[in-house]
Amino acid sequence: MDDNRRLLIDNVRIAIADCRSEHDVLRAAVRLIDSFSEGYHWTGFYMMRGNHLEVGPYVGPETSHTRIELNRGICGAAATQKKSLTVDDVRSDPRFLACSVSTRSELVVPLMDGDTCLGEIDLDSDTPSFFTREDQQMLEAVAKVIVARLGQIG
Ligand code: SME
Repeated sequence: MDDNRRLLIDNVRIAIADCRSEHDVLRAAVRLIDSFSEGYHWTGFYMMRGNHLEVGPYVGPETSHTRIELNRGICGAAATQKKSLTVDDVRSDPRFLACSVSTRSELVVPLMDGDTCLGEIDLDSDTPSFFTREDQQMLEAVAKVIVARLGQIG
């Protein structure tokens, strides 16, 4: 992983160290993640609430998908499969729920606490095939840092 990506992971760890609530952790993290790349056009969290996902802090255009059932969307698929999903061309993926018509690619990384999915980081880009393997690895490391902090808050 390159230095910029390592730096983002460290910066998220530092920024959330003093946060005392889930909302504060997610809000601090989302700002940093979004600022990593101008190609990230919607950056946000969806959190598990009972048996569905609810939108958390995000940076980007307002989304109508404030609640996502687990059998819907790329977000629902990632939470159900408990693994990261990169979609290079959302227009050819029937699962895709459009937040914005300009979105062309998407990366969803679950927040895994052991075998439990707490929620996920969702990134959209207006560029097809925007998200790289390095982006996925970086976001998976960021997810670990966030889950560790949420565990400390309890
Ligand atoms: N595209 C997501 C929905 C969330 S919005 O993009 C913010 C999906 O297909 O699940």
